[in-house]
Amino acid sequence: MKMIVAYVRPEAFEPIREDLLAAGFPSLTIDEVKGSGRQRGVTERYRGSQLTINLRPKLKIECVVETDQVSLVTETILRHARTGDVGDGKIFVLPVEQAIRVRTGESGQEVLQSHESEEVPA
Ligand SMILES: Nc1ncnc2c1ncn2[C@@H]1O[C@H](COP(=O)(O)OP(=O)(O)OP(=O)(O)O)[C@@H](O)[C@H]1O
Ligand SMILES: [Mg+2]
Repeated sequence: MKMIVAYVRPEAFEPIREDLLAAGFPSLTIDEVKGSGRQRGVTERYRGSQLTINLRPKLKIECVVETDQVSLVTETILRHARTGDVGDGKIFVLPVEQAIRVRTGESGQEVLQSHESEEVPA
């Protein structure tokens, strides 16, 4: 099992979400975060004065999937998050030791995403 952690432009999230749902990955967590990459900051004019904005808004996506599904998810993220400009974001893939569904106590990779048509509202 792996956790995909992606930092993307906020506007890239809706199309990513749509394609992940269609591909059978409904389970994820997002957070609105701020970050910086190797450019460290961008100088912009704000109310007449130059200022360096060191942290830019990004959307963080966390999605835990079976190891052999990682590339499907990362390719979906790349497809929508890449504009070709600096600041498009980054994707990390982390090992996951265990997954447990709290309601039932079931564990293992079966609990990660929806494998049947269990159409229950989140
Ligand atoms: N090494 C890192 N660790 C944690 N977060 C990171 C790391 N690199 C990038 N991020 C996150 O990803 C966001 C976007 O990074 P960004 O796309 O600017 O990376 P970059 O390496 O500067 O590439 P580029 O040159 O394309 O801008 C950052 O604002 C930060 O939130
Ligand atoms: Mg950058």
